[in-house]
Amino acid sequence: MALISTTPMLEKARADKHGIVAFNVHSFDSIFWVLEAASDLKSPVILQTTVGTVKSLGAKNIAEVAKTASDHYGIPTGLHLDHCTDFEVIKEAIRAGYTSVMIDASMHPFEENVSRTNEVIKLAKSLGVNVEAELGKVGGVEDDIVVSEEDAEKAIPLECKQFVEVTGVSTLAPAIGTAHGIYKGKPNIDFERISEIANLVNVPLVLHGGSAVPDEDVRRCVSLGMAKVNVSTELKNAYSIAIREHFEKNPESLDPRAYLQKAKDAAIEMAKSKIRMVGSENKVVPSFV
Ligand code: 13P
Repeated sequence: MALISTTPMLEKARADKHGIVAFNVHSFDSIFWVLEAASDLKSPVILQTTVGTVKSLGAKNIAEVAKTASDHYGIPTGLHLDHCTDFEVIKEAIRAGYTSVMIDASMHPFEENVSRTNEVIKLAKSLGVNVEAELGKVGGVEDDIVVSEEDAEKAIPLECKQFVEVTGVSTLAPAIGTAHGIYKGKPNIDFERISEIANLVNVPLVLHGGSAVPDEDVRRCVSLGMAKVNVSTELKNAYSIAIREHFEKNPESLDPRAYLQKAKDAAIEMAKSKIRMVGSENKVVPSFV
């Protein structure tokens, strides 16, 4: 099974009012862990990597491992480049076999966001590669992109409509009150704004900052049209904590299979809970395969 474009799976998810989780993966092992969870639950899934992960593991290696894991588990899998500001890295990812890319020009004024997004669309769309863009500014830290609470800015619904019309972008990530990382308090999600945007824009919407958002809030976002739900921090924390606990209990342990097994178990459990949260169990359809 080849890696597939995320466009049809997200369009179907939006129409069916379920979500698809896009898990940030940070190692080759975690690609297999996410796919095993998706396979156990018969769920389509998206693997995504930040630019930092591309730099540490290599775009080609990531795409090859993702394809091998997708073949092995027989699960329709999209491979997405998360929050990229650099056109050269986007080209590298597409050449390597990524099926979806995010051009994050949200730090620029509207017109420049449009022109940078259009540049990527010109390259990606004819190859069937999904393009995601961001409007407003999602707060928090994702790799090198740091947006403070004061600088976080919600997306303006009419700008979202205009943006989709002038770019033809396939998926849109509007900032609606979530942030990357773990929240200090309860996230203050603007459901009314999501609903307004979803009424004006018919492409699948993307929920960034999916970690530590209460399940019922994520489900409400999904029911309003947010089809792609990004989860990074909670997944990596789950397996890193499992490794830390292993060494706290077994400081002399030197067999990677022992601690990686614990990391794997924790990652699979976390990934399954997120897949169940968005309702994508048993949503593999023959047209994706
Ligand atoms: P979290 O780290 O909050 O899960 O956010 C993930 C994300 O939105 C990646 O773009």
